[in-house]
Amino acid sequence: MHLAVLLLVSALSGATLALDNGEMRVPPMGWLAWERFRCDIDCAHDPKNCISEDLFIDMADRLSEDGWRELGYVYVNIDDCWSSMKRDEKGRLQADPKRFPGGIHKLARYMHDRGLKLGLYGDLGTHTCGGYPGTTLDKIELDAQTLADWEVDMFKFDGCYSNATEQAKGYPLMSKALNATGRPIGYSCSWPAYQGGLPPKVNYTQLGEICNLWRNYGDIQDSWDSVLNIIDWFFENQEVLAPAAGPGKWNDPDMLIAGDFGLSMDQSRAQMALWAIMAAPLFMSNDLRTISSGARSILQNKMAISINQDAMGIQGRRIVKEKNGIDVSWRPLSNNASALVFFSRRNDMPYRYQTTLGKLNYTAGSYKIYDVFTEKTTTLKDTTGFVVSVNPTGVVMWHVSAPAKRNLRQFYKGGRLQGFAFGNDDENVVPHAFL
Ligand SMILES: *[C@@H]1O[C@H](CO)[C@@H](O)[C@H](O)[C@H]1NC(C)=O
Ligand SMILES: *[C@@H]1O[C@H](CO)[C@@H](O)[C@H](O)[C@H]1NC(C)=O
Ligand SMILES: *[C@@H]1O[C@H](CO)[C@@H](O)[C@H](O)[C@H]1NC(C)=O
Ligand SMILES: *[C@@H]1O[C@H](CO)[C@@H](O)[C@H](O)[C@H]1NC(C)=O
Ligand SMILES: *[C@@H]1O[C@H](CO)[C@@H](O)[C@H](O)[C@H]1NC(C)=O
Repeated sequence: MHLAVLLLVSALSGATLALDNGEMRVPPMGWLAWERFRCDIDCAHDPKNCISEDLFIDMADRLSEDGWRELGYVYVNIDDCWSSMKRDEKGRLQADPKRFPGGIHKLARYMHDRGLKLGLYGDLGTHTCGGYPGTTLDKIELDAQTLADWEVDMFKFDGCYSNATEQAKGYPLMSKALNATGRPIGYSCSWPAYQGGLPPKVNYTQLGEICNLWRNYGDIQDSWDSVLNIIDWFFENQEVLAPAAGPGKWNDPDMLIAGDFGLSMDQSRAQMALWAIMAAPLFMSNDLRTISSGARSILQNKMAISINQDAMGIQGRRIVKEKNGIDVSWRPLSNNASALVFFSRRNDMPYRYQTTLGKLNYTAGSYKIYDVFTEKTTTLKDTTGFVVSVNPTGVVMWHVSAPAKRNLRQFYKGGRLQGFAFGNDDENVVPHAFL
């Protein structure tokens, strides 16, 4: 008991070490251009897809008119290739005048008028990854001030064309410079992704103090291979990554790609479920003008979103990796609730996975189960055997609520703690076929 309290206190006090700009106490949600639209600047031949103010206005209209904003999707984020190839006469970044005739400030106003926020992209280095003007160390204060003048709400700072020494100076400097503008601007750092994402090259304590979120790993692409590769990296490194996350500071496994071309509905649900378990930022990169109703209902799933947005901000972990290809992950939530995801890496047929909540280290008691994607509910005792049918490359996701919770001590100790007793009152293990 004392141990549990102690660990809880240290987890909470860890949260106060986040970047002190009041931003992103829960993972940010919105839309980001990159994965779906890249650097398409060919407006003459592809006006609907090109990186221009029309694209961002269209997405803002969809977010505010199609029910996204009310669910929390409020950021509209511009990525690379927005700027002119030249800084202005005062040395400031400026938007491409043909594709953004209204300029960035006007676009920010457009977002604010609709209860949305605008995110912008920059790059620490001589050039952005796409070859546009970068932010060298001597330009950091000027560029931070430009963002504030334009009333930008979030800034993604990429790291192409800079080396490790410059990054170690530049990312903290930009954090200070943003703070000095007096405008709260959510700060996304690509720094760790350029340094392999792991200690000793990456210091997650420091990142949590200077950034609101950070890209740890490579860019997502529109394929299941890419999503699975990201899932594997994040869960394989969870002992390093999970403690780094908390209110105001998040690991970012990159954009949600449901609604694009590469994922089946099952794979889209798997991404949504695992991003919720990981307390990941939810930035969709898709075309909200033409998104299918199937993809929309996955991305608008209220329970998946509320799990992602849980106020405690504890990043969940994989707790079981079975030889049969089933992974189980778990995230503790406020009010003694929790979330479980049963994920299948198989590619043959739906797999009937059998277990009990007790085997997943839930304490003795009975639990209310809500299936996030089928919306069915049931009650389970910790000792009751049950079977979930998990589709190939799919998930079953549960919200599990009181009366009791999985032992937090085991979470922090990674299951190494001894002497944890299960309730033994009900040994009749007739599997309860579920769903
Ligand atoms: C700047 O940092 C100080 C001290 O950490 C904090 O109190 C303040 O809210 C920050 N302001 C902005 C705009 O981020
Ligand atoms: C990093 O770049 C700077 C130039 O900005 C250079 O002076 C320095 O030697 C480089 N450091 C390394 C480790 O390459
Ligand atoms: C990591 O950063 C923290 C906070 O800035 C600092 O106290 C600590 O010494 C750093 N750790 C290492 C190994 O450099
Ligand atoms: C959580 O569960 C504990 C007992 O396991 C109980 O004492 C506490 O009141 C519960 N908290 C909430 C918010 O339900
Ligand atoms: C449950 O706890 C035991 C004992 O601490 C541990 O060996 C096991 O790995 C845990 N199982 C899960 C699913 O966390």
